[in-house]
Order: sequence, then structure tokens, then C-alpha cells
Amino acid sequence: MSVAKRTFDAVIVGAGGAGLRAALQLAESGMKTAVLTKVFPTRSHTVAAQGGVAASLGNSTEDNWHWHMYDTVKGSDWLGDQDAIEFMCRKANEVVVELEHYGMPFDRTDNGKIYQRPFGGHSQHYGKTPVSRSCAAADRTGHAMLHALYQRNVRANTQFFVEWMALDLIRDAEGNVLGVTALEMETGEVCIFHARATIFATGGAGRIYQSSTNAFINTGDGLGMAARAGIPLEDMEFWQFHPTGVAGAGVLITEGVRGEGGILRNNSGERFMERYAPNLKDLASRDVVSRAMTTEINEGRGCGPDKDYVLLDITHLAPETIMKRLPGIREIAIQFAGVDPIKEPIPVVPTCHYQMGGIPTNYKGQVVVPKDGDPNVAVSGFYAAGECACASVHGANRLGTNSLLDLLVFGKSAGETVVEDNLAGNLPLRPLPADAAEYSLSRIARLESQKNGESVFDVGLEMRRTMQKHAGVFRFDNLLKEGVEAILKVAERSKTTEIHDKSKVWNTARMEALELDNLIEVAKATMVSAEARKESRGAHVRDDAPDTPEYPNGRNDNEWLKHTLWYREGNRLDYKPVNLQPLNEGTEQIALAKRTY
Ligand code: FUM
Repeated sequence: MSVAKRTFDAVIVGAGGAGLRAALQLAESGMKTAVLTKVFPTRSHTVAAQGGVAASLGNSTEDNWHWHMYDTVKGSDWLGDQDAIEFMCRKANEVVVELEHYGMPFDRTDNGKIYQRPFGGHSQHYGKTPVSRSCAAADRTGHAMLHALYQRNVRANTQFFVEWMALDLIRDAEGNVLGVTALEMETGEVCIFHARATIFATGGAGRIYQSSTNAFINTGDGLGMAARAGIPLEDMEFWQFHPTGVAGAGVLITEGVRGEGGILRNNSGERFMERYAPNLKDLASRDVVSRAMTTEINEGRGCGPDKDYVLLDITHLAPETIMKRLPGIREIAIQFAGVDPIKEPIPVVPTCHYQMGGIPTNYKGQVVVPKDGDPNVAVSGFYAAGECACASVHGANRLGTNSLLDLLVFGKSAGETVVEDNLAGNLPLRPLPADAAEYSLSRIARLESQKNGESVFDVGLEMRRTMQKHAGVFRFDNLLKEGVEAILKVAERSKTTEIHDKSKVWNTARMEALELDNLIEVAKATMVSAEARKESRGAHVRDDAPDTPEYPNGRNDNEWLKHTLWYREGNRLDYKPVNLQPLNEGTEQIALAKRTY
């Protein structure tokens, strides 16, 4: 079957914050740039980011990037690479001010500066007191950011392919990346996007879990494509559970609520975080708060008839503050929890929110893989940024507001690197192999011809239940072992999915089946990597790796201070060292220590 081909200097998959920021860098430099996106750009999942973007502007409280770097390394439980973390924290002010100049409508302080609020795990003086570091546009920061970036891209002539789903990465025999195949939703057309450079900015895959703050589009497409093309996935055992998803609905209630003074309470009205994190209390790091909440619920101190949630209380805040700083949250609480937070507390539970791992990259946005004894060799023509990438700045646990910062800094950095690589002549338009689209076409043909197959929904549901039960907030050896077996069985079932009732559905059903293929790769990578890591670190906490004097918080740096790499081929694991060395010689390394808040 002949397949149409479109040729660009660069193709970007994903039009969230990272994709739009990368695209802007390329289009403004004159490179012919295509952005493929499953949804209209301003509906990408970045739109759901509420509380803000971190930058040590110091507009409300004294601040500097060294403190931000310290907080980020500590938050990552020392699994983050210190060169990338230094790069991100040093660049933060530049990318935020740049965004302001693009027209981002940040809230303002009384003297006209960008408004900043406190967020979990962010501090002054190396952990001593909370700092106001999150630059916010009320509780709709991601929404405002997407609009600013999209408009700027329109001005720069970025070419958008809206409602297109990328299917597979195209590599040549040497492993160079030459673009992607993609499916147009409206027509069903499969097309090759041939390019000098390919940037993945496909976001997260939080839909592998049953309870998730993630949009339905967050199906790990970039990770699935990378894994099928032989690229390993890094640190996939680390998933962030956001403390405050609306109980029963999963919708995000921003940490900015606690930044504005919100308090978590158990069924006796106790502010229980005082027991778990005496210093930062409700503003401790997310993994710490989520575990504290889960412990309260497990030990019978939850609220409601089934004692299965805790309460987020802002009834003590002035109604004007809630209306001005948290208008969207009030709306969400009314719509999804049936309570007006001005009068009543909001029922909340920890909910899957963010993947710390992803496609391995360096701070320049280049995708890196082990080769000839070097753990980080750049794959020619391939770049990634945002949640789908693992730079790794978040390590074992991300701090709130560092995600919007990550996508700005590394989206821009990936774009800059492509421009530089192109100017240096390192990105020739390499010839496509004759069978460039065959793999994608065969995957679609399998779906079409499948008889008596499995329902995509049923297999997806089984995957989500398995992940929720076997790889949740607290992890247990037997559940993880059983989880590996269970998820491999689900993966087998996913090979025989069928699009039922072909007469009534069109490409959305086909897309859901293809998305499931991607989710399954992420689920396998998560379960296998989690079962293998025999320590507790950040968001990965095992009951058989408790807090002891020898292993503070259950962390075992002698054996496990290393990044996991999961390969799809053979379901195999490998490991590579964490970079504890900052980027610049004069920057002080953040020494290993026990993490307390
Ligand atoms: O709580 C929030 O507003 C989420 C922010 C984040 O995940 O960075």
C-alpha cells in the first residue's frame, strides 16, 4: 500500500507546553516545523495544571536558584541528575519572564510583579522555612500558558496537524531517527512525517491507573513508540500520587490550595500533617503527604461513611481570597464534590498524577541510550521534553510546579539543540527505508482483521485495576510479584483486541485500541521496574524496605542509587549511574542526606 509522505525540518509530537515551547524555538529560527496533536493545542493536558510554575524570582519572599536546586534534589530523594537540576533551576527566571513577555497573564502583587505562592517542598535557606516560588495565574496557570504559547506559534508559522495521532517512530538500520508515521482521525489516512529532527512531547501516561488526575488523552504514546523502536524507558517505577484528587472523581484540587493556607484534617478534625512533617506540615513534599493521608485512612481515621477520604479545609480563608486566587477550585468542588469550599471542606484522596520516569534524555533534550560502555549516547535525530522525557530532574519524586518549569526549560532546550545541531550540519535529511510505514500498517491491519477478539475497554479496565492494586502509594513484595504476572497476562490479551461494531465507529475506536498498545508498554515498564527495586525511595515505598538507622527512610544508596532502564525486548532491565555532579564547576553538590520535612 502506498503511503503519503510529508517532509519537514522538524516534526514535534504533542502540543502541550513542552511541544509548543520547542516548536516556537524552531519556527522562530526559520525551520519548517510540524506539530502533530491528538487534540486542539489549547486542550492539551498542560491546560489542567493549576497552581503555578516554579521560579526563584523572589517577588514575595527572598529566594535564589541554589535553594530551588537543593529542594529539587532533596525532593527527588537524590535520584535526580544534578547537572540537569542545576540547569533547570538556573534557567527558571529566564523562561518565566520570557513567557510574561509573550503575554502570559500572571496574577500580580500590589507593586505589579508576578504573584508567587508557596508550594510543597519548596523552601528558603535549604529546607528551613517555606518560600513563595510558584508563579501563578489564579488556579488556571497551565491554561493561560498554553494560550500564550499557542498564539506565539501561530505568529511564527508553526504548522499544526490537529487530530492526528502519531503511530510509530521511524529509524534506519543505523538507528537514526527519521520521523514518525501518523493517522489522521478524520480520514483514517496514514502518512509518513519525514524530518531531520523528531521531538517527542507527548506528555504522561497517568491513564494506566484507575484513579487519575490525567486527561483521557494521556496514554503514553511517546513512550510506547520509543519502547517499540528499541529505546529503553527510565525510572518507570516512580509515579506521583497527588494528595488532593476529589474523592470518587479524581479531578485535581491544586496544591496551591494548601499554598494559600488550606489544611488537611482527619475524622477528628486533627491537622494530622503536624505529626508527619512537623516543619513544613501540609506543605511537605507530595509523596510524604500522600503516604500520610493513606496511613490516616488505613488506620481508621478517614472521613465519610466508609472512612475512605480526608478533608481539605479552607473554610478559615476569607471568601474574597478563595474567589480571587482559587476560583476554579471552588467551581470544581461544587461540581465534582457537591460542596462549596467557602462553607465546607473538600473530600480528597491521593490520586495518580505524574510519571517521574520516561524516555531518557540529557539536559539538552537529546534522547540518550547506553552504547559501547557509555550510558548516555545521543540517538541521532531524536529529542524529547516534558513529562514523556526523563532528564532526570524529578528523580523519585517531583515537586509541585516543577512540571510546568520542566516543560518550559527542556522544551526550549530541545528546540535550541535541534537548531544548533542543524546549523552544525549534523541533521541531514536521511533517506527513508522502503518499508518505513509497514509496521504501523500491519498494526492497523491486525486490528481490522481480528475476529472474536477482546474488547479494548475490558482489557484497559483490567490494566487499570491491576496497576491500582499492585503498584499504588504503598508497595508490597507479594503484590508486586503477582502484579508482574498479571500485567503480562493483560499484555497478551491486548494483542488480540478487536474493534467491535465497525459499522458505527470510526477512527476514535481505532485510536483507543492503538492507545491501549502504548499504555500497556508503560504499565509493563512500571510493574517490572517497581518489582525489581528492593528499596524505598521517593514515591516508591515498599513495606519490606522500612526506615532503619542503616537505611534512612528505607533508602539503600549503596545498591540502589542508580537509574532503572526497562527494555521492551525481553522485558529486560538495566541500570545506569545517577549524575551527582552539578553542571558547573563552581556549583556545590547537594550531598546525600536523609529526607525529612
Ligand atoms: O497542584 C497543582 O497545582 C499541580 C501542580 C503540579 O503538578 O505541578
